[in-house]
Amino acid sequence: MNTPPVLFRLFADETLYANIATGLGAEHGRIEHRRFPDGEAYVRILSDCAGRDVVVLCGLDHPDAKLMTLILAAETLAELGAARLTLIAPYFPYLRQDQRFNAGEAVSARHFGALIARYFDALITVDPHLHRIHDLASVCPITCEVVPAAPAIAAWIKATVTRPLIVGPDAESEQWVAAVAGLASAPYVVGEKIRRGDRDVTVSLADTACVTGRTPVLIDDIISTGRTMAGVVELLTGPDRPLPVCVGVHALFDDETLALLQRAGAGELVSCNTITHSTNAIDLADSIVAGVVASRSSTTR
Ligand code: R5P
Repeated sequence: MNTPPVLFRLFADETLYANIATGLGAEHGRIEHRRFPDGEAYVRILSDCAGRDVVVLCGLDHPDAKLMTLILAAETLAELGAARLTLIAPYFPYLRQDQRFNAGEAVSARHFGALIARYFDALITVDPHLHRIHDLASVCPITCEVVPAAPAIAAWIKATVTRPLIVGPDAESEQWVAAVAGLASAPYVVGEKIRRGDRDVTVSLADTACVTGRTPVLIDDIISTGRTMAGVVELLTGPDRPLPVCVGVHALFDDETLALLQRAGAGELVSCNTITHSTNAIDLADSIVAGVVASRSSTTR
């Protein structure tokens, strides 16, 4: 019988961790981590990992506050003899800065990916924001397994929304929107977005009449400032129209943004549990477990 992996949790949702551990038949890894009074990170691995297949589930929203702990854990696990180190980062950050838009800018996607590849043998993540980069392994050169949220989102829509019309804010979103629409057997439309600044976004839709008789379900991979989602909501609200349902894969937003979206006219607002958030309604534990299993059959180094 194969020895089960040891699964550690860093900054990730407890329930998601427990469900992934059950799905993988993993041993719960014991780890202590905290901050010294001066803010520096402290990590101690308490489980025996020598020769073991080790998996770390790490929440990586607001990554700068978590990265040093993750690196100390990975270095220590390797020193203690872990045979293979896999990172499950349900949200993989820093991908939106995927090119040098202005002279002198850091291409964060490349540098962050390379950093993670230095410490791990494999990465499992959910719907990474791949726009100009087509393959995650081109910035993070290890075994990369991309877990799609579309099947779970489509199942949620089928169970919850009557006569949905799936709406994406921009061409970038079409990859997710088309997949969800196909699986939910629903039509879809995609808008056009112009971003002038972090909080200055305009979205347009060629034809808003297509919503007639349907409940719009707006889908985006990331909701951060909420300006993109709010722009679409405003286009689709009106008398006698059902309130738009909003679905984000990665909920990076705070309560102020939630209020902004509600003021704009959003109805139900839900997210996947890649980031612990009050709007979490779509569980991806089984999809992530399938991703880990698939990553074991791929090898790149
Ligand atoms: C864009 O590139 C992404 O797919 C999202 O549309 C974007 O990150 C949403 O950001 P915000 O909520 O700040 O408008």
